[in-house]
Amino acid sequence: MTRRDDGRALHAAIIGWGKCLPPAVLSNRDLATFLETDDEWIASRTGMRERRISHVPLGEIIHVAAARALACAGLEASALDLIVVGSTLGDELCPNVSSGTQKRLGAKNAAVMDVNTACTSFLYGLSTATALIRTGVVRTALVVGAEAPSPFMDWDDRNVAVLFGDGCGAVVLQASSREEGLLAERLGCYGDSRSILDIRGVGARYANQGIPGGYSRWSFDGQEIFKKAVIGMTQASHEALAKAGFTIGDVDLMIPHQANLRIIDAVGKRVGIDPARVHVNVQRYGNMSAATVPVALAEALEEGRVRPGATLLLPAFGGGLTWCAHVVRWGERVTPLGSSDLELSPCDRTGLELVNDLRARRALYHQAAAPFIEAARHLLDEPAA
Ligand code: ACO
Repeated sequence: MTRRDDGRALHAAIIGWGKCLPPAVLSNRDLATFLETDDEWIASRTGMRERRISHVPLGEIIHVAAARALACAGLEASALDLIVVGSTLGDELCPNVSSGTQKRLGAKNAAVMDVNTACTSFLYGLSTATALIRTGVVRTALVVGAEAPSPFMDWDDRNVAVLFGDGCGAVVLQASSREEGLLAERLGCYGDSRSILDIRGVGARYANQGIPGGYSRWSFDGQEIFKKAVIGMTQASHEALAKAGFTIGDVDLMIPHQANLRIIDAVGKRVGIDPARVHVNVQRYGNMSAATVPVALAEALEEGRVRPGATLLLPAFGGGLTWCAHVVRWGERVTPLGSSDLELSPCDRTGLELVNDLRARRALYHQAAAPFIEAARHLLDEPAA
């Protein structure tokens, strides 16, 4: 445990939380209007019933979630020394997403960084910010998990299009002498398996090859990811609990990454937790990648499922294949100190209308750039090295 000069143990308490879900809903039945799929298949294989589709850039969703987390903590943006945004695909690659968050919030005193470990990005960001607080580099930090896969999605591929949704969650951390916040974690990666979850068409490998920017192809081996996810999340949970000196019986609530209800059930069984102590919302939002855990955490607090002093277990996996589990001790306060009146710009379209727009734009790109895309086909067909 790290100690400051004054001899007191330093921790990073979670003192604020917030979430932002875009209002437009895309149901399984909506998906079945343009894909060969149905509600029964999607619900029975994944647990998902609906997901959200954003009508605004990711930066705006982050801004609202972050403002809510700050208001919940009773802090002004100027109090932040650090902003960490965990995300896979932001509005731009350079400048990074977190500098945009600093600007929108007016958090002029904050250092910023993006963390990309795919779906585990929020939790890797939580580790990073906690370490910087424990070592005294910063005192107050915002950690965001945000993802809006909808603009990048290949909406005509039923293997992937049914699985994802857009959203954002955020927490505020502050140095504390009380033993709360992140107590222990285990981070890991099966790098040899990185090609089994692959978004092709985004990155320097594709630059100036004739593929229109944003024309991505998603490729993954669902069954292999399923197996690796269960093994990685289970192993990480055991190791993080042991590091904290706990057993699964000490965990009040498990809030796992929400990629598939069957994965959550399998991990729950292996770690030996009562399903009543697992928070699940995959049915409402689908897989929001880096946003799933902070959104589920904020929701669990709103629903009164996190008691003062509760011990939480947060296991996750993501592209890479990264995996991890975090053991968190909650503080005394489980209600917000304040609320923010910031809202997303109004949305006048349904989820299906937004997706049909994206599909039409993609078809237009494809038509206009067909010879170039064909010439670069090998890049879209080859898995990541
Ligand atoms: N609707 C109807 N049928 C479908 C659909 C769909 N949307 N998608 C696939 N199918 C078909 C397949 O074509 C296949 O048909 P076939 O048997 O005629 O070939 C059949 O359904 C079975 O497909 P499987 O891949 O065996 O289905 P499985 O039970 O493995 O479920 C799933 C697939 C949901 C992807 C599962 O493997 C999974 O959840 N994997 C891990 C999670 C994952 O990969 N998430 C992606 C993001 S990763 C992350 O969060 C970091």
